[in-house]
Amino acid sequence: MDTQLIQTINKLQDAFSTVGVHNPVDLPQITVIGSQSSGKSSVLENIVGRDFLPRGTGIVTRRPLVLQLINRPAPEQPNDKEPAEWGEFLHLPGQKFTDFDKIRDEIVRDTDLKTGKNAGISPQPINLRIFSPNVLTLTMVDLPGLTKVPVGDQPKDIEKQIREMIFKYISKPNAIILAVTAANTDLANSDGLKLARDVDPEGIRTIGVLTKVDLMDHGTDVIDILAGRVIPLRLGYVPVVNRGQRDIESKKTISKALDSEHQFFDSHPAYRSKAQYCGTPFLARKLNMILMHHIRNTLPEIKAKIQAALIKYQQELMQLGDPSDSTPNLILSIITEFCTEFRTIIDGNSNDLSSFELS
Ligand code: GDP
Ligand code: NA
Ligand code: MG
Repeated sequence: MDTQLIQTINKLQDAFSTVGVHNPVDLPQITVIGSQSSGKSSVLENIVGRDFLPRGTGIVTRRPLVLQLINRPAPEQPNDKEPAEWGEFLHLPGQKFTDFDKIRDEIVRDTDLKTGKNAGISPQPINLRIFSPNVLTLTMVDLPGLTKVPVGDQPKDIEKQIREMIFKYISKPNAIILAVTAANTDLANSDGLKLARDVDPEGIRTIGVLTKVDLMDHGTDVIDILAGRVIPLRLGYVPVVNRGQRDIESKKTISKALDSEHQFFDSHPAYRSKAQYCGTPFLARKLNMILMHHIRNTLPEIKAKIQAALIKYQQELMQLGDPSDSTPNLILSIITEFCTEFRTIIDGNSNDLSSFELS
């Protein structure tokens, strides 16, 4: 049911953008920020459970990547036409990428196409959907990491450009900020948290992710941070362990990496007793819940906006009244279809709205 709700909102957003209508549904996006090399891409790949992001030194992520994860049960007998898991780019409609290496290649190709080869950046997003039985339905945005020093022939004001791009995404009041900080660096100096604090001073919509917990000095841990005694955040912190550089070189698979992560928290003296609140699977569940919580809180507003849009198009349709022009009919039928689907889901969900609690 939850997945269906988020999926319907995604379809609704598509329908409105296809017909060029202002989107009445402002679905929150989970925006990943942090310093370069803090582990943002690793966190995203672990959540998806697949390798598909470009890697390397320097600024690898040079355009926003809007990643819609869509949970979809695997067909009984997956085949070329109906694969179990695939990616699809908005700029290449209908093309199913079942080879995730090709997804990476396409991200690199389209990034170079729009930014040139001089490692410049562009605010123009790449939109990618991943359909899989192994993901929770979520929308996440990967952004370039903060760098201080331009390299090669990068523009001199690259830091300012990146900062502005990040602000554009995180200043929206319903953006959820995933501030990634390496646990082996000082939290007080975290670029991600500093940026988040500028737009969310009370820490209401910021989640802290602590990466590289495995690289902390022996005898130190992140317990004080988790307990909210360092920089408190309403939504808290989640510690994770991603693959290190050597794991990537030795082609350690993500499923092995997730096993190691589980092992790490389960056997570590400081985390053992709270292992269920540690690691990537907990982070993914938490993000999905936050998204659901937000949608349910804004359902009445979304419903009213859809209703208003529907009335507006019905009136326009009557005024246009030329039976030979099928455009308004098409718009109306798309919107009506989604409104109907949407109402069914809302009505089906309305009973448990009050009982929903955020963990
Ligand atoms: P990004 O620039 O923020 O996207 O960072 P990446 O995800 O590309 O990670 C940068 C480097 O840190 C890579 O070599 C990763 O393998 C490594 N790394 C990321 N997270 C962890 C972690 O939890 N533990 C260890 N040991 N290495 C990590
Ligand atoms: Na950071
Ligand atoms: Mg990255």
